[in-house]
Order: sequence, then C-alpha cells, then structure tokens
Amino acid sequence: MKKNIVVLSGAGMSAESGISTFRDKNGLWENHDIMEVASPEGWRKNPQLVLEFYNQRRRQLRQVDPNEGHLLLAKLESQYHIEIVTQNVDNLHERAGSTRVLHLHGELTKVRSVADEHTLYEQFDDLQWGDTDAHGNQLRPHIVWFGEEVPALEEAIVLTQQADLLLVIGTSLQVYPAASLLHYAPATAPLVYIDLNPASLYSIPNPTTVIAKTAGEGLYDFLELVHHLMGK
Ligand code: OAD
Repeated sequence: MKKNIVVLSGAGMSAESGISTFRDKNGLWENHDIMEVASPEGWRKNPQLVLEFYNQRRRQLRQVDPNEGHLLLAKLESQYHIEIVTQNVDNLHERAGSTRVLHLHGELTKVRSVADEHTLYEQFDDLQWGDTDAHGNQLRPHIVWFGEEVPALEEAIVLTQQADLLLVIGTSLQVYPAASLLHYAPATAPLVYIDLNPASLYSIPNPTTVIAKTAGEGLYDFLELVHHLMGK
C-alpha cells in the first residue's frame, strides 16, 4: 500500500504562477481592505465591491497556469497516496493533475446562492449583482470569508490524522483554523515545511525539516529527501 502524504498548501504555492500572496510585500491584503472584500460585513455593505474583487481574481486565474511545484506534486501520486488540503481558492492543483484536493477556503470557480450554501454552481466568468439561482436568490462567491465556518475542516482533520508525512508549502500559518491542522498529524510523522520565508513553528513535536526556498525549488529538495524520511 502506498504511504500517505498530506500536503497543506497556501498562497506561496501559486506565487510562481503569478498569483499574488496575501501577506507578502505588495500582497492582496496590502492593497485591499480584508474586511471590505472578504467578510460577511463587507458583503452586506458593498456587495458590488466584493463581487468585483473576486471577478478580478477569477479573470486572473484564467490567464495563469500551474507551476513546476503543482506539477511535481501531481507526479508524486505515482509513488505516494497524496491528499492535498489547500487554503488556495484557485484550481491550479487540479489543473496540474492532482486528483485529491480539498479546498478549505472555497473555490473561485464555484458560486452558491445566499440562501443555500450546499448547492454549488460552476462559474468561470464574472458574477454580477442580480445574478441569481433558479429561485431568485442572489449568487455569491463560494469563498469562506473571515468570520465564517470552515465546512471542510472536519474532513481536513481526519486526513491529517492519517498522514505518514505532512508537507506544508507556501503558507504564513497565520490563519486559523487552517494553521491548527499541523497539530493533528501523528507526532511521529515527519513534517516538511517549504516556504520562502518560513514562519516559526511552535510546540510541534514532529521531526521537522524546514526548506526556505520557493515551492518549485523546495519540492525538488523534498523529492531527494522523501524516501529517506518515509523510512524506505
Ligand atoms: P500568506 O500570504 O499569508 O502567506 C504566503 C506565504 O507564502 C508566506 O509565508 C511567504 O513567505 C510564502 N511564499 C511567497 N512566495 C513563495 C514562493 N514562491 N514559494 C514558496 N513560498 C512562498 O498566504 P496564506 O498563508 O495562504 O484566506 O494565507 C492563508 C489565508 O489567508 C488565505 O487562504 C486567505 C488569506 O486571507 C481567505 O481569503 C479566506
């Protein structure tokens, strides 16, 4: 049976594809007020602004491609059982060929009505105020905004608990509950953290390797290490 690698990815994973991260210099949260564009309060106050913010993100997503890092992770499925838990709302893991991707914070290419969070519709174009489902309910981006529940969290916890190795890539680990997933990996499972500017890891008992490189470069290093870390 293939050993199990759980990947927790963040915005740094997609940086080399040309998608801005949130908290780096010139990141999205430097140029946009997070509460205006990514919270239920912002949506109530100015839904057009929120729709435009995600329309821009969706338009950009149509123009970019998976990078080397996404492709390497997809290829790794031939050797390991890979479960990707991503904070990213882009679809670059899937487009690179990864088959098991759980989106913690929603997906840019999906929308849902304000009245029903369970029925999702595909959306590749702009979403406008006045666009509704068949019942006349306004459609909104399928994004987990600040202050909202993270419906995929339970599933992410169960996956992480089954990890033989936890691979964390391109995340500042500042946003909870996503960052708390690190604490659910079995204590003996090696943890590898690839990030250009890695955050400090506190009270993590796991044997840890930090690779301070880009996602693409760091994954090449990881490929050299992984057999050894997995004990075969
Ligand atoms: P952040 O913007 O907080 O962190 C990005 C991380 O990527 C940082 O640690 C950078 O050092 C690293 N980084 C930048 N370029 C990189 C590269 N080329 N290769 C590797 N690492 C690189 O993004 P997240 O941690 O993903 O949520 O943010 C978590 C959540 O906060 C997002 O999902 C989003 C945001 O608010 C929502 O919008 C709901």
